[in-house]
Order: sequence, then C-alpha cells, then structure tokens
Amino acid sequence: MDMTIGDWMRQHKDIDRLDRELILAKTLALTRAQIIARPEHLLDDDSLRWLASWVERLRNGEPLAYLTGVKEFRGLTFEVTPDVLIPRPETELLVELAIDLAITRERVDNKLRILDLGTGSGAIAVALADFLTETAAVAEVYASERSTAALGVARRNAANHDVSVQWLESDWFRDITTQFDLIVCNPPYVATNDSHLAALRHEPSAALCAGSDGLDALAIIVPGAHANLLPGGWLLVEHGYNQQTAVQSLFAEQGYEHISTERDLGGRPRVTLGREP
Ligand SMILES: C[S@@+](CC[C@H](N)C(=O)[O-])C[C@H]1O[C@@H](n2cnc3c(N)ncnc32)[C@H](O)[C@@H]1O
Repeated sequence: MDMTIGDWMRQHKDIDRLDRELILAKTLALTRAQIIARPEHLLDDDSLRWLASWVERLRNGEPLAYLTGVKEFRGLTFEVTPDVLIPRPETELLVELAIDLAITRERVDNKLRILDLGTGSGAIAVALADFLTETAAVAEVYASERSTAALGVARRNAANHDVSVQWLESDWFRDITTQFDLIVCNPPYVATNDSHLAALRHEPSAALCAGSDGLDALAIIVPGAHANLLPGGWLLVEHGYNQQTAVQSLFAEQGYEHISTERDLGGRPRVTLGREP
C-alpha cells in the first residue's frame, strides 16, 4: 500500500514530531519546511527501509544528532559522531561570556589568546574563532582535547567553517605550555550515580562523568589553570545548575578574583568565572 509523508507521520507519533520531520527531511533530501508542506508526498520502498532503521535507533534512545551526524550550535552546523558530546544550547552562554570578555580585554602588543579546554566537537572553539578571528580579528583560538578521535571531529568542523584554530592534544593542562588571556571549559561534571546518565548512555562517558560528586575534573582544572593564565586572565567554566557553591569555593580557595556565576536562559546558575590576580 502506498504511504505518504502524512501517513508516516501519523503512524510514528511515539517519536518526537521535530525528530520525525528531521529524519524525513534527511531521508528525502528535502527541507523541514518542504516536509511540513507536502503531506501527500509518496515514500518509496528505499526511503521506508531507511526510515524504519532510524526509528529503531531513536526508540533505542540514540540522539537524533548521531543519526543525522550534525547539530546546530550558535547558528553554525557541526559534525558530530559518537566520539564527541553533542553540543548543548546552554553552552552558548559560555561562548557569549567569553566574547564579552575578549572584546573588552584589548591587547596592544599581539592578539588575545583563548583556549577551549576539552573541545570535543570543537563547538566552543569554532564559534569563538568564527566570531572573533573573522569579524574582529582580535584573537587567536586554541583548543585542547585528550581524545584523539574527538580532535579529528573538531579539526573537520574548523575546516568546514574555514576558521583557524591551534590544536593541542593534552590531558587537561599537562602538555600545554602557552599562556592565555581566556580559558573556557565545559568539562565533564555529571556525578557517576546521576539518574540522568541512563538517558545519555550513547554519548562518551569521558565527556560526561566526573566522579561521585561530578567535580573531579573541575578540581583539576581550576587549580591547574593558574600556570596557563596570563596575569589578569580569566577562567570560565560551565557546571551543573546545583554546583555553583562548590565551584565558587574551588575558585575562592585558589585565589581567583572577581568570582561570579552567570545564569542560563532558564535562570539556572551555569557558568562560573574568575580572574587570575
Ligand atoms: C562536556 S564535554 C565538552 C565538549 C565540548 N567542549 C562542548 O562543550 O560541547 C567534555 C570534554 O572534555 C574532554 N575531556 C575529558 N577528560 C579530559 C582530560 N583529562 N583532558 C582533556 N580533555 C578531557 C572530553 O573528551 C570531552 O570532549
């Protein structure tokens, strides 16, 4: 029996509507607007087989971005693979804050140096480079990562967006000798017994988990950043909405100045920053 887009949409109502529209768009090489506008479009056998395999993967909890291989972040399209965390919209706050600090910290001698520590897909570094090096030519962006596979994805994303990023393979700061004006980091910060982890099982646990309280990575990064920050440089870290007090304490114990925490669009405290004396 012939099946149209409209029939298929009605038969798969257990899948999120946006996800249904996006896999139809990807399968049929149409835009989402075209999918919505053409409910009478007939699906051929090949398309139906392809859609069935994607539905099975979505029902198994696999994120749509791993199926389509792409995710939007700050208006840019990023390649994603199961080697990298899927960039989250709340991380855009980290990028906005870094841009604000970068454009107010003028350097007369040379360009501002910014490090995205634990770059994953490269979303933060590429978004920063896209904004700062292309439009204002004020910064040099570096990005580090321990996972070789993730660095490969990040490099391709930078190339796709035609931005320049200096890549460093390092376990946090271990092999980084450069000093920076800004260090931005979205580290793993989920506690290993957090009930949300089951829903995140398709993403790399090294990108998510950080010990029993979720603070293991931050407990290395906050003290470790001193050696790689220029005097007056800033460290900005994303964290869980319930980790503000603990992360502010880490910054205070380490003698950072002007410590503050910024909230995401949902009003949750998500990014703590402090200045190197
Ligand atoms: C929460 S993900 C963030 C990825 C990306 N920056 C983003 O915001 O989408 C944390 C990243 O830190 C990396 N990472 C974990 N442990 C690391 C370590 N010891 N040294 C360097 N990077 C590490 C992970 O591979 C992962 O890419």
